[in-house]
Amino acid sequence: MKRGQIKKSKGKLGVLIVGICGAVSTTFIAGTMIIRKGLGVPVGSITQLATIQLSKDKKKWVSKINEVIPLADLNDIIFGGWDIVEDNVYSAACNAEVLTIEDLNKVKNELQSIKPMKAVFEQNFVKRLNGTWIKDFSNKWEAKESIRRDIQNFKTKNDLDRVVCIWCGSTEVFSKKSDTYQKLHLFQMAMKESTSEISPSMIYAYASLEENVPYINGAPNLTVDIPAMIDFSLKTKTPICGKDFKTGQTMVKTILAPMLKIRMLGLHGWFSTNILGNNDGFVLDDPGSFKTKEESKLSVIESIFNPKFYPDLYKNVYHKVRINYYPPRKDNKESWDAIDIFGWLGYSMQLKVNFLCRDSILAAPICLDLVLLIDLAKRVGFSGVQSWLSFYFKSPMCNNDTVEHDLFIQYLKLKNTLRKIIKCGLVAL
Ligand SMILES: NC(=O)c1ccc[n+]([C@@H]2O[C@H](COP(=O)([O-])OP(=O)(O)OC[C@H]3O[C@@H](n4cnc5c(N)ncnc54)[C@H](O)[C@@H]3O)[C@@H](O)[C@H]2O)c1
Repeated sequence: MKRGQIKKSKGKLGVLIVGICGAVSTTFIAGTMIIRKGLGVPVGSITQLATIQLSKDKKKWVSKINEVIPLADLNDIIFGGWDIVEDNVYSAACNAEVLTIEDLNKVKNELQSIKPMKAVFEQNFVKRLNGTWIKDFSNKWEAKESIRRDIQNFKTKNDLDRVVCIWCGSTEVFSKKSDTYQKLHLFQMAMKESTSEISPSMIYAYASLEENVPYINGAPNLTVDIPAMIDFSLKTKTPICGKDFKTGQTMVKTILAPMLKIRMLGLHGWFSTNILGNNDGFVLDDPGSFKTKEESKLSVIESIFNPKFYPDLYKNVYHKVRINYYPPRKDNKESWDAIDIFGWLGYSMQLKVNFLCRDSILAAPICLDLVLLIDLAKRVGFSGVQSWLSFYFKSPMCNNDTVEHDLFIQYLKLKNTLRKIIKCGLVAL
């Protein structure tokens, strides 16, 4: 990256959302519209509220991030996307029951005007759903071409300068590592032969990259976290990031676990369970989809505690994660963590956490930050895996560097990357 190379944000930014009628998507879209009308505060958004400390010529000062980094303006965002149901975003948001009707009515007309494009969907990948608004295609390559045309039409119709794509669709069933994923040419061949390894999310992601559209993966599906796709993102000079938004229980875990580790306190076990009653909870009630989520949630403990180096403290940690579908709670997830720790001479202690959160309320600001930051990454000229965005993910993708789960180290990495961008001439300090 050289000084003065970075393109400023001008014109409109298209945000294409896969799963646009879901709880997270509709909360993100409606919230952004309410906020840009000045009728709400973007609580939880780093790009809108957080500050950054800067220095030049031995002087230090603090500025708001969005005052020193030219991110896209919220007023320049145009939303679009795909879903398997033919609903408009207002009625989908009402069904999701996250935001009140009173809040949704503040932007009713804008929400009603957004209707999903037909989806690429295969029930094998999300067993609990049955789509009615789905593309017909004879093979997966053709499906990918159809998504590409959707992106092109969306861009032309709305006179957009740039587009980013974010997966807020349902969690797909667990995919095992496959040879097909190792090489780009094998992956392309598999798309033409419509093999079962190619999931719908991979089709959206490939089409986006081919259109030079950055891709964010908010679910734990493999999707872009495979060598073929990483290779393609580098070839197309397009940034990618994922996986699985870090919102409630895992956010807390990635704060508490480093606390125990830096005080060299031991851990016998960590039992995490939660209940949620939204559509995501219904999908995750299927064992295949749950397995994908479970893998994503389990990776955290092993990586933070690193038992190889601290066998006395973390050798036999029992880590269990459960998700229970419980309709009465809707989007208001309740999680419990029972943490069995030990201290001086091995004396045991317990720590309990009970978090009554709102799933989509925590996810929406993450979506906003990610679309603005990945758009910035594209303008800066970054491509491939954006590990500096690990802060936002449960199961962060990384290049050759090791995966970092500690929320505060991730935050430092995020801010240091922003500082580097500033240093490289984006802003005259
Ligand atoms: N809310 C959170 O805190 C949180 C945190 C981490 C990850 N996630 C993930 O984000 C995703 C969205 O969560 P949600 O609560 O909005 O779920 P949701 O079920 O309300 O929404 C998912 C939407 O995706 C649509 N969909 C499924 N397959 C599709 C396809 N192939 N093409 C287009 N649309 C498709 C569904 O019809 C639905 O409208 C899930 O994968 C979830 O696991 C959510």
